[in-house]
Amino acid sequence: MKLWGGRFTKETNELVNQFNASIRFDQRFYQEDINGSIAHVTMLTKQHILTEKERDIIISALKDILTEIENGSLIIDDSYEDIHSFVEAHLIERTNEIGKKLHTGRSRNDQVALDMKLYTKKEIELLDGLLKELLSTLLSLMKKHIKTYMPGFTHLQKAQPITLAHHLGAYFEMLKRDHFRLVDIYARMNYSPLGSGALAGTTYPLDREYTAELLGFAGATLNSMDSVSDRDYLIELLSAMSTIMMHLSRFSEEIIIWNTNEYKFVELDDAYSTGSSIMPQKKNPDIAELVRGKTGRVYGALISLLTTMKGLPLAYNKDMQEDKELTFDAIDTTKGCLQLFIGMLSTIKFNEHAMELSAKNGFTNATDAADYLVNHGVPFRDAHGIIGRLVLSCIEKKKSIDEMSLQELKEISPVFESDIYDVINLETCVEKRLTLGAPSQKAMEQVIFINEKFLEEYHLS
Ligand code: ARG
Repeated sequence: MKLWGGRFTKETNELVNQFNASIRFDQRFYQEDINGSIAHVTMLTKQHILTEKERDIIISALKDILTEIENGSLIIDDSYEDIHSFVEAHLIERTNEIGKKLHTGRSRNDQVALDMKLYTKKEIELLDGLLKELLSTLLSLMKKHIKTYMPGFTHLQKAQPITLAHHLGAYFEMLKRDHFRLVDIYARMNYSPLGSGALAGTTYPLDREYTAELLGFAGATLNSMDSVSDRDYLIELLSAMSTIMMHLSRFSEEIIIWNTNEYKFVELDDAYSTGSSIMPQKKNPDIAELVRGKTGRVYGALISLLTTMKGLPLAYNKDMQEDKELTFDAIDTTKGCLQLFIGMLSTIKFNEHAMELSAKNGFTNATDAADYLVNHGVPFRDAHGIIGRLVLSCIEKKKSIDEMSLQELKEISPVFESDIYDVINLETCVEKRLTLGAPSQKAMEQVIFINEKFLEEYHLS
């Protein structure tokens, strides 16, 4: 059955039917479609456009349809153009045609805008819940590893010593910003387009604020043309998900590096790694690689929708139907990656010994040795040159700075005294970095406290 057969004299070409139809993918918001219709009918009755009897018949049939789809006794069949036609056809069939009044004062344009918004709101809530779980996982790891020393890198070269808590804390801040992005998007999109009609509102005395309230929106949108053709909120969500994926991808890259034989900083749990069909020794970080790989897919959805929207005149155009598959795929992908990441991180083993050893080798304390000279009156630029020569000499002798004898140190600069060893030992190097946001235990405890509070008060709206 079609909702628009009246002015046509010929059957639609079968390929056109298939090309045009969206039921294959928009059936996933059957629930939102039915709930939107229930709100619409409730409002039509309050406004004396439908009778109470008509309302009760329609709502009861809609509820039956919902239950039957849910328990599998009503199968959504592909012969309908979209989920809206499917639900309406079944409603009409079951209500002795009273269901034909449901669409009074409504267009599929505001209907689909509503359904997609309701669906997106629900999915943002789920995404945000997963973000919270990942943040909690990170915070417990941070508490556990506040004294786990490791090298910090720039250019993937060992730079200065930090702790694992500090390194993980960087991802905590990234994901925290991701949460606030979702908060913003949610608040901005939280207005109902229902009642905007095809593009120019309607002549029926609809109460749009009432349906908005029934459906849990903060209010109703203010321009009917914009309401049916706004896809900004999807673009914003795709952008936020792209950023989440970019963060997960960077983290994945580190896990992949840390998992190599050369680093051995981590061991992935058997349940979260895979083997090779030919090389028995292998334990591959496939999950991290897939997360990194799938990032491109989510970016693709963002660029795709931006491109779809860029040339569209007001108001609704069928191009907009393209928003669905790519948004659904991006949401599924991002949620899936977050879920797997939580599992991978909560089972991963950190090789504290290898991390500490790596921090000790590689001259991560060279800056601190230079600072020692500065504190003894040497200008920083000279100190930098002296420590450069010291490192060169260490490399020749295959020693770390703290393995050099005082005699050897004095040959490079007479300023060195025996207290240098205290200054450049790994623990001191980290623990004297006390500025807010720095890796020392003291500074980290401050940040962990702030972030604990943040998690306690975590909310989307
Ligand atoms: N399947 C369409 C979409 O996803 C529903 C809206 C159809 N409206 C129309 N005037 N053809 O955008």
